[in-house]
Amino acid sequence: MATTIEELEKRREMARLGGGEKRIAAQHAKGRLTARERLSVLLDPDSLEEYDMFVEHNCADFGMEAQKIPGDGVVTGSGTINGRLVYVFAQDFTVFGGSLSERHAQKICKVMDMAMKVGAPVIGLNDSGGARIQEGVASLGGYAEVFQRNVLASGVIPQISLIMGPCAGGAVYSPAMTDFIFMVKDSSYMFVTGPDVVKTVTNEVVTQDELGGAVTHTTKSGVADVAFENDIDALLATRDFFDFLPLSNRHDIPVRPSDDPWDRQEDSLDTLIPPSAATPYDMHELIRKVADEGDFFELQPNHAANIITGLCRIEGRTVGVVANQPLVLAGVLDIASSKKAARFVRFCDAFEIPILTFVDVPGFLPGVAQEHNGIIKNGAKLLFAYAEATVPKITIITRKAYGGAYDVMASKHLRGDLNYAWPTAEIAVMGAKGAVEIIFRGKTAEEIAERTAEYEERFANPFVAASRGYIDDVIMPHSTRRRVALGLRKLRDKQLENPWKKHDNIPL
Ligand code: HXC
Repeated sequence: MATTIEELEKRREMARLGGGEKRIAAQHAKGRLTARERLSVLLDPDSLEEYDMFVEHNCADFGMEAQKIPGDGVVTGSGTINGRLVYVFAQDFTVFGGSLSERHAQKICKVMDMAMKVGAPVIGLNDSGGARIQEGVASLGGYAEVFQRNVLASGVIPQISLIMGPCAGGAVYSPAMTDFIFMVKDSSYMFVTGPDVVKTVTNEVVTQDELGGAVTHTTKSGVADVAFENDIDALLATRDFFDFLPLSNRHDIPVRPSDDPWDRQEDSLDTLIPPSAATPYDMHELIRKVADEGDFFELQPNHAANIITGLCRIEGRTVGVVANQPLVLAGVLDIASSKKAARFVRFCDAFEIPILTFVDVPGFLPGVAQEHNGIIKNGAKLLFAYAEATVPKITIITRKAYGGAYDVMASKHLRGDLNYAWPTAEIAVMGAKGAVEIIFRGKTAEEIAERTAEYEERFANPFVAASRGYIDDVIMPHSTRRRVALGLRKLRDKQLENPWKKHDNIPL
């Protein structure tokens, strides 16, 4: 006899209950939402179309044949965020600890395949005890199927991972290959091996949170992008962030109508640069004054803060911002900041998001540790990323642009489309004092001071570079937003292609 409507309702009800009331209460007691509650915050109301609600595992070992829960520990499907299509999966910790079985992995792969076919981002909500222990190698195979899809989807559709509970062992590598990772403070962690194994192998004593909590990964390791206070904050911020992203590399960047005048003049920018070259200022002020409505979504704000990366809009269109931050380490380029910015530049380039670069950089950070840890190869990542990028690139030098760092930061020579400088710009091989001490080694302090003043007079300005055409114009700081908006308009139909190749060989 055909299934009745009541029976369908009953089956759906059972699937929605996941691991049952007791486990849902335990999840809530940890300050965490359930998988379905999370999706209801992330997606527009009633927009979730769930797939594979009745999928069950196929394991017959360890008494598993008697324990089947419809859905098998992951809720998958599609929905909308502010009306735009997105594919989602949310691991359900109340079902076998959200652990990944063969069928669980197949469900994730199905939504990833759909997202690739139609061109829509995938957002994964991770909360899992890892490989389903009862299944063994079938589960490992499942992970690898997901990994393979992460790689093929990279640069085709945006992929975002939210870590909202445990994420350990090889399971960390799927989020690691997505574009962005958001974590929840005090309730999520990521590590390849946990504190117990660490203690056994290296005798180091460390807590879960110290080893791989949200703060650790958004400050020290840079594995994750942003740490949020709780599930709701993380999910609502993900909605905001999603609004900046194109659906895929074959879609245009989204446009949000804005009332902010494109030619808004910001007189306060004329005095942003302090009179002394040694005094720092906050580059965020410039970014916010140029962005539509001052809205800037910063990525990795607490890791390698000597460079700022994030998304804003100008005339309603998404723009990627990279900016040296004079407030932290004088805005110097080091290993961490080069890696951070390089990955961001490549994300923008993959998805046709124009890049706006603000430059105030004294050079690369000197030091034995930097050299021994590979500043050469790591600094080259940022150089490589900017040089290969074919998206519109607008660069504004506000103050220092010294040495190799001048070249790296989207200079004219790396196919910068519009390179502007403020009158306060200093474009030179190095700072005046350092330069004079080398050229006039052995001279008296008096002579050195005299020559330094001479060097400053000659080179600490934007006009030497402008006289060579390396700088397209020296602009008034107050007109920065207008000049950037005009530039982006003109560059909207920019065409530039790199030579054909299978792929490049960025210094990893
Ligand atoms: C099957 C699992 C499970 C797993 C948890 N559960 N992890 N079932 N496979 N991997 C089940 C528990 O049996 C329990 O079932 C329920 O989920 C909740 O788990 P608890 O331990 O009660 O929760 P909690 O105290 O919050 O601890 C969470 C935890 C812990 C830290 C994640 O469960 C844990 O250590 N799990 C094992 C982690 C692990 O070793 N995974 C394999 C890693 S190797 P009941 O019925 O009691 O509710 C790996 C390789 C991947 O992942 C390789 C990819 C390439």
